[in-house]
Amino acid sequence: MSVKETIKKRRAYRSLVPVEITRDLIEDLAEMVRITPSCANKQPWQFVFVYDKELLKELFTVLSGGNKWAEKASMIIAVFSQPENDCVLGERLYYLFDTGMATAFLILRATELGLVAHPIAGFKENPAKEILGIPRDKRLITLVIVGKHSEIINPVLSDSMKLGEKQRPPRKSIDKFTYINKVKELIS
Ligand SMILES: Cc1cc2nc3c(=O)[nH]c(=O)nc-3n(C[C@H](O)[C@H](O)[C@H](O)COP(=O)(O)O)c2cc1C
Repeated sequence: MSVKETIKKRRAYRSLVPVEITRDLIEDLAEMVRITPSCANKQPWQFVFVYDKELLKELFTVLSGGNKWAEKASMIIAVFSQPENDCVLGERLYYLFDTGMATAFLILRATELGLVAHPIAGFKENPAKEILGIPRDKRLITLVIVGKHSEIINPVLSDSMKLGEKQRPPRKSIDKFTYINKVKELIS
């Protein structure tokens, strides 16, 4: 599958069925993170691959109400970092950028392997960190929900989420965020 095909195939699906999680899979995904570029090669990211059933059950309790669909996860990947782990150039803090890139590479590899890897922000940060042993001063940026896509729509989904299973949510047109050579008129 080409990079372009993988990017197009990736979707934030919310109807999941179980998939077997192996050490090989985790190592494969971790390797994609390992070779991601970062500012001054700082590699600010930390990833926790959670597939222990009891821990998953605990994590389900910290998800926000709209994320009940994630209880079908076979694995949850917790992604954390902190600003000091990466370049701070005046007001430019690179830890979220670099960790986001690494997460994107992981998500694309998971997609190529036929998995759903859906990042979420809807969770309670401190309780999640406590469950996973992540120190309080770190920023838990996202939980990536991993499973296999099911054509059978998860009944816990809202109507708009159900629609999202069938078609990609609309995007801005390219001319709304693209400039050629110079920003002449800012489009918000
Ligand atoms: C940082 C981030 C946080 C997100 N948080 C949630 C979330 O809490 N719950 C959820 O159902 N989807 C969440 N999503 C998924 C987005 O809603 C989804 O990517 C967007 O609607 C576009 O759909 P698509 O990824 O299928 O193209 C999140 C995505 C990102 C990148």
